[in-house]
Amino acid sequence: MPKHKISPSLLSADFLHLERDIQMMNDSQADWLHLDVMDGKFVPNISYGMDIIKAVNEVCNIPLDTHLMIVEPEKYVKQFVDAGADILTVHLEACTHLHRTLQSIREQGAQAGIALNPHSPVEMVFDVLEDTDLVLIMSVNPGFGGQKFIYRTLDKIRRLKAEITTRNLSTQIEVDGGVGLHNAQKILEAGADVLVAGSAIFKTENPTLTIEKMKNIGAGL
Ligand code: DX5
Ligand code: ZN
Repeated sequence: MPKHKISPSLLSADFLHLERDIQMMNDSQADWLHLDVMDGKFVPNISYGMDIIKAVNEVCNIPLDTHLMIVEPEKYVKQFVDAGADILTVHLEACTHLHRTLQSIREQGAQAGIALNPHSPVEMVFDVLEDTDLVLIMSVNPGFGGQKFIYRTLDKIRRLKAEITTRNLSTQIEVDGGVGLHNAQKILEAGADVLVAGSAIFKTENPTLTIEKMKNIGAGL
């Protein structure tokens, strides 16, 4: 079984020292860097947009895993891919024509992801799994770092994993929100391939070591 990936969320980094924190990620075992884009409309918070991503891309040498928490994401696909997004994830709840949006992400040359809010049944993405490289299961209500993991998510991960396995697909399952060393093993056992963690990494004394520990969890699962 291939080892899981870790995608630290920049939302919990030190915004005054972004370059230093990104460099720390480059030198760590982090596989991707998770970038949370919030518009104050889809979620009750505003974070950053493509100009910051463009700057991050200048110094970051691991793939940019970009999570769009915005309405009408289809309008900005090209801009985010041009800014450096390697994986571009849109919310199911924000897309009227999800299939079309996923195709346009792939056409722009990025990997396409779908994110689901905690209330959305995972079965909603089953008919577009072939068009999707990644499904991001939100394990908190999106908008803020540092919230508590919703444990019902584990069942959702299991249902999605079973479907992906039955259909012999390579879609990756990413889990985002309230993930840390205390619950990572359970999440991986349920079938997750990628763990996003913000506060559990950046708010610890030694983020590099925390990533290493998270990466080694469940070795031999
Ligand atoms: C929440 C974001 C997350 C957030 C996770 O809306 O999508 O990526 O940064 O933060 P933690 O790991 O602190 O829950
Ligand atoms: Zn996120």
